[in-house]
Amino acid sequence: MTVRAAVDRLRGTRPVILPSLLLCDFGNLEREVRHLERADVQGLHLDIMDGSFVPNLTYGLPIVRALRRLTDLPLDTHLMMVHPERYVDQFIEAGADVITFHVEAVENPRPLLARIRQRGAGAGIALNPETPLAHIEGCLDLCDLVLVMSVPAGFGGQSFDEVALEKLDQLRRTVPPEVMLEVDGGINDQTIATCARVGAAYFVVGSAIFRHDDYPAVIRRLTELAQSC
Ligand code: DX5
Ligand code: ZN
Repeated sequence: MTVRAAVDRLRGTRPVILPSLLLCDFGNLEREVRHLERADVQGLHLDIMDGSFVPNLTYGLPIVRALRRLTDLPLDTHLMMVHPERYVDQFIEAGADVITFHVEAVENPRPLLARIRQRGAGAGIALNPETPLAHIEGCLDLCDLVLVMSVPAGFGGQSFDEVALEKLDQLRRTVPPEVMLEVDGGINDQTIATCARVGAAYFVVGSAIFRHDDYPAVIRRLTELAQSC
């Protein structure tokens, strides 16, 4: 599948639960991926943290390459790093389909969004809870995806911040419907429906999936709740 086809596939499916692999068992990556595929997930969310933009350090290119070899699922790559412009080409070569970087990490997001698109990947911009929506308004025309953080980027297992709801509501009214509105952080059976109601259709879920054994049951339940709006 080409990168564009993967992005179109993601864009054409709503709602989508995107498991964040932060808490998965990396010693058994293939088993985890098969388990998620059997649960009918439509994509995987990869949290790349550099220990500088955020205090936490996760994984990078080798894991993206390994996942690319293991699955055809769209790889939704969330770069929480300084100087994302130094790495996006490598992430695309490694197999990332959507590349999202943080507006707080760059001076002007426009050239980088344009470059990601030019390379055939989906371009996404992310903003932290404390960052006003005004900071991304000037680049929305270049975005395939907008990632509204409902926790400060950096760690799984944090509590949902309602500031994300106002932003999603605003965005839904201003961006064209083909732009994917994604929410990330503290998404579970208590918070997902409210996010869907204000326009999110792509839901990143970490601890609510990986702290359970039965991924299919959790994913089915979350999908139903997101559809119920
Ligand atoms: C936070 C990450 C998230 C996070 C989601 O910086 O971007 O993807 O791991 O985890 P939960 O669902 O546990 O908040
Ligand atoms: Zn994320």
